[in-house]
Amino acid sequence: MTTYWDHVDPDEFLQTDEEGYNKSIRKLFRDLVGHLQIQTILEVGCGPGVDYVGASQTRPSIDYTGVDITPQMIEHCQRLYPHGKFQLADIYSLPFADNTFELVYCKDVLNHLDTWEKGFEELHRVSQKYILVNFFYGLGATTVKEKQDHGTHINNWYDWNEVMTTLVASRPLSLVVFPRVCNSYEETLILLQKV
Ligand SMILES: C[S@@+](CC[C@H](N)C(=O)[O-])C[C@H]1O[C@@H](n2cnc3c(N)ncnc32)[C@H](O)[C@@H]1O
Repeated sequence: MTTYWDHVDPDEFLQTDEEGYNKSIRKLFRDLVGHLQIQTILEVGCGPGVDYVGASQTRPSIDYTGVDITPQMIEHCQRLYPHGKFQLADIYSLPFADNTFELVYCKDVLNHLDTWEKGFEELHRVSQKYILVNFFYGLGATTVKEKQDHGTHINNWYDWNEVMTTLVASRPLSLVVFPRVCNSYEETLILLQKV
């Protein structure tokens, strides 16, 4: 099955950042990579590998694995970043054992899924310590729940009360929220720690 992502050019996709959204959120990711006591990272939905570059520049010894469902994203990463580990995988069934990675990172992916909760379960399962996620839209959209069908792909807005309660429901997790505003976007990154 081909998806919207099969039709974007990895050489162009998310590489430039005129609106500042990616710039700001990627900086926060790099800061966390620099400060958290971690050695292994799994990025799910790594796209063209921009955050692989950020992670490996911040901490050259980091053991990073990137997975994506789109073959051309993985081929692009393997071609440009031969020192990284990249492989095809679907967030709904990650080919890793429980508790494999100290940090599991997933940016701008959950909001494109039909059931983000199922995707999150997998992130949680393979994480040993931390999970870092966003939902593209910031916490400002407090109680809006809307499925935006762009024809080519969907981009969901969620009810934040529901998101937060679902994240912590029935599993021991502590949660740190980074609400941020930059230019036209509000953005929120959520760091969860298994306790
Ligand atoms: C908006 S892009 C974000 C890419 C990257 N995280 C970034 O911010 O630079 C979404 C990515 O998620 C991937 N993706 C979509 N559905 C997926 C799934 N079910 N499993 C794994 N990756 C998926 C797409 O192929 C695409 O590369």
